[in-house]
Amino acid sequence: MEAGAGVGSAFQDGAYEAVGARLASVDDVWSESDLLLKVKEPIEPEYGRLREGLVLFTYLHIAADERLTRALVDSGITAVAYETVETDGRQLPLLAPMSEVAGRLAAQAGAYFLEKPQGGRGLLLPGVAGVAPGKVVIIGGGIVGYNAAVIALGLGAQVTILERSIDRMRHLEEILSGRVTLLMSSALQIEESVAGADVVIGAVLIPGALAPKLVTRHMVRGMKEGSVLCDVAIDQGGCAETSHPTTHSDPVYTVDGVTHYCVANMPGAVPITSTKALTNATLPYVEEIADHGLAEAVARDRALVRGVNVLHGKVTYEAVAEAHGLDFTPLEDVLPLSPV
Ligand SMILES: NC(=O)c1ccc[n+]([C@@H]2O[C@H](COP(=O)([O-])OP(=O)(O)OC[C@H]3O[C@@H](n4cnc5c(N)ncnc54)[C@H](O)[C@@H]3O)[C@@H](O)[C@H]2O)c1
Repeated sequence: MEAGAGVGSAFQDGAYEAVGARLASVDDVWSESDLLLKVKEPIEPEYGRLREGLVLFTYLHIAADERLTRALVDSGITAVAYETVETDGRQLPLLAPMSEVAGRLAAQAGAYFLEKPQGGRGLLLPGVAGVAPGKVVIIGGGIVGYNAAVIALGLGAQVTILERSIDRMRHLEEILSGRVTLLMSSALQIEESVAGADVVIGAVLIPGALAPKLVTRHMVRGMKEGSVLCDVAIDQGGCAETSHPTTHSDPVYTVDGVTHYCVANMPGAVPITSTKALTNATLPYVEEIADHGLAEAVARDRALVRGVNVLHGKVTYEAVAEAHGLDFTPLEDVLPLSPV
């Protein structure tokens, strides 16, 4: 383990050593491992460390990153993306915990950046007795959207969710006990809803693919001065035309009077919570790969097949190949699946 890797999450090196881990430099970790676990995708200075024979298991989001996709392909590395591990029931078990965290944070960020000193409209999201609460519009009612709604409701906001799956809307209506307005997502409905919103939360996902640009520049121009657009889908390219990725050290910028909060790694703000939530979900898959090797692990669990994005210089995840105009090769063609 890289020395100091757990410090930000309040896990000291000694705790790892006590259970048998060997601490090493980051270079040694990259060069000596068979299976390398990270949280975020490799950044450019790390591209030189990608190599054949290494299985990298981390968040990749490469449909939105052509340079990294090409670096992975050229290196011959095996890259398994947390966010595309998908069960037969279409669940994304390794995206879910971070989406829970990001959704909850999005509502908090929306409330915070509505404050005047933060460049906002100067509105208290819950209102007070005799003064109406603010309006939160959430586009996409999946895990991020649901968790954003729970916190926004808890803060006392008036919440609307736009979804395109009727089944999902029925489910949300039930679990949120009818406390949110649920609307079918269409260009017209989005335009109307964002124009009236104090906070817009972008929470759509088409698994593995770039986020659709549902909020156009024209719609942003029609939003209220000082309102907040929190584009959580930014790690998939963002669902607003005006979105570009930001960081925790400089989280917001303004377009046409609308504060844009587009932090690509929102859970990084709360590492103690996020580390535990993430590793609770990844550990069973890590153990599968470590115990059996990738070929047998994917044969045992189809969810892992969908996680493999790049293998032996081929793109094995269709939406990634499509996003960058590269050839798609089904995993079975490159990795003969071992019998279990
Ligand atoms: N910025 C961050 O730190 C961070 C952290 C976690 C997740 N995310 C991102 O948040 C996004 C949402 O993730 P999730 O886990 O909630 O995904 P999810 O699959 O649970 O939910 C996505 C929802 O979007 C809906 N949807 C798709 N197209 C739509 C449309 N045109 N209009 C309305 N709804 C539509 C789907 O029906 C689905 O319910 C993803 O892009 C994910 O990568 C970002």
